[in-house]
Amino acid sequence: IRCQSTSTDEPKTKMNLFDNASNLLTNLLSGGKIGSMPIAEGAVSDLFDRPLFFSLYDWFLKYGSVYKLAFGPKAFVVVSDPIVARYILRENAFSYDKGVLAEILEPIMGKGLIPADLDTWKQRRRVIAPGFHSSYLEAMAKLFTDCADRTVLKFDKLLEQGGKTIELDLESEFSNLALDIIGLGVFNYDFGSITTESPVIKAVYGTLFEAEHRSTFYIPYWNIPLARWLVPRQRKFQSDLKVINDCLDGLIRNAKETRQEADVEKLQQRDYLNLKDASLLRFLVDMRGVDVDDRQLRDDLMTMLIAGHETTAAVLTWAVFLLAQHPVKMKKAQSEIDAVLGQGRTTYESLKKLEYLRLIVVESLRLYPQPPLLIRRSLKSDKLPGGYNGDKDGYEIPAGTDVFLSVYNLHRSPYFWDKPNEFEPERFLVKKESQGIEGWAGFDPSRSPGALYPNEIIADFAFLPFGGGPRKCVGDQFALMESTIALAMLLQKFDVELRGSPEDVELVTGATIHTKSGLWCKLKKRSNV
Ligand code: HEM
Repeated sequence: IRCQSTSTDEPKTKMNLFDNASNLLTNLLSGGKIGSMPIAEGAVSDLFDRPLFFSLYDWFLKYGSVYKLAFGPKAFVVVSDPIVARYILRENAFSYDKGVLAEILEPIMGKGLIPADLDTWKQRRRVIAPGFHSSYLEAMAKLFTDCADRTVLKFDKLLEQGGKTIELDLESEFSNLALDIIGLGVFNYDFGSITTESPVIKAVYGTLFEAEHRSTFYIPYWNIPLARWLVPRQRKFQSDLKVINDCLDGLIRNAKETRQEADVEKLQQRDYLNLKDASLLRFLVDMRGVDVDDRQLRDDLMTMLIAGHETTAAVLTWAVFLLAQHPVKMKKAQSEIDAVLGQGRTTYESLKKLEYLRLIVVESLRLYPQPPLLIRRSLKSDKLPGGYNGDKDGYEIPAGTDVFLSVYNLHRSPYFWDKPNEFEPERFLVKKESQGIEGWAGFDPSRSPGALYPNEIIADFAFLPFGGGPRKCVGDQFALMESTIALAMLLQKFDVELRGSPEDVELVTGATIHTKSGLWCKLKKRSNV
């Protein structure tokens, strides 16, 4: 079976089962209609034998930086080009919505920032984004350190009981750590998942699992009437959702009932370090008054819980995976930690000196971007700009076109990175000039003065770890600091090795890239400290 083109002549903004069926028919009858856009031809087995983004990469090298892919009832335009990505994400951002992603996430996140319609998004983004200001992040640096300390203590205890070396699935440990951090940082709730199990934690993992399953399932069967009652996994999903919603509703109620003018003053003066509860929920309730809509607040919190948990855990997982294969770089990181921290704790200030660690975090995000694809749907017909390779004039696309922006392809593009598949944190220290590609400004750190971490502005959209434009991640600095601190605290105390060979670590994807059966590592106390 070959992937075929699909007619996208008919404007449509919402895909439903009927659209899918009629699309399939036109797919079989017609040829490609989106100008002369190359059409990926691949065996359908490519889609199932390995993660989709691997096949998208091979097709990118074969068909260029903008091509069309159709499989089954669906067709997508796949973009691996910084100029086109910049156009869709920033220059013409409001002509696109989240398309199929919003359909998948809306039942979980409601009107939270990720799936929200444009009007709701505009209003909530204005309210939420200021919550992530520098005083909040400073308070969070302490929280990240406290939570990472719990993980270190847990490993210490296991080492006391288990001899000189212990074997651990670090992916699941990072997942617990990230869950505790997001709970405390966003709504001041201690999941305590590093040390305990609870029904709320189980419900969170159940919901994440379902979100993941939905993001890889192409037909939204959960929208079929009665499915939520008849399909057992949908019943379980509904009951998990209820457990979390009840928990969040309780927290919101409590935050409203305990609102104190003295705290509001501290918040206004950004005196976060003297607040008992510095969470984002406190900010949203205290600064906006108690009349803020509970349902909307719950959607906001749920969105941040899901958006900020597995993503950060995945960054830590891949950073350790990469470092374990590069012992020299691991030692270099540990030398930096020893020089900056000694045996002390990480702080907001010390982050500024942990430069190599910060670059390890961003290089891990370059090689394993979370998520590997950004999803959009055009709200009206549009003309994409010409890219850098083979499509200088650009392409017309009709309204309703589903677009995959492959961050994975951009981050491993041989056209923009030297040795793109190699782990080389030092690469960000070298100023790389534009390669003379029309419309692409190239790498230039001076475009983002004072930035602690390389970002999409420096790389002019060839590097997109947190997306770009108005819908860029609101939690980017939170996540980067959290990852750097957790990594620093781990490597300060322990030497880490993979238990088996790197090839044993199988990779799967849903919303994030993660391992199939965990990142099993051997840990021992560092001998030279
Ligand atoms: C959006 C990545 C952590 C909250 C995004 C987007 C990316 C991203 C790529 C843009 C999606 C798109 O354009 O379709 C990441 C990564 C993280 C991380 C790699 C960790 C390493 C966090 C954290 C939070 C968060 C910790 C909250 C505390 C959000 C929200 C949005 C978002 C609310 C939607 C923004 C909007 O549409 O206005 N994230 N994120 N993320 N992220 Fe993150």
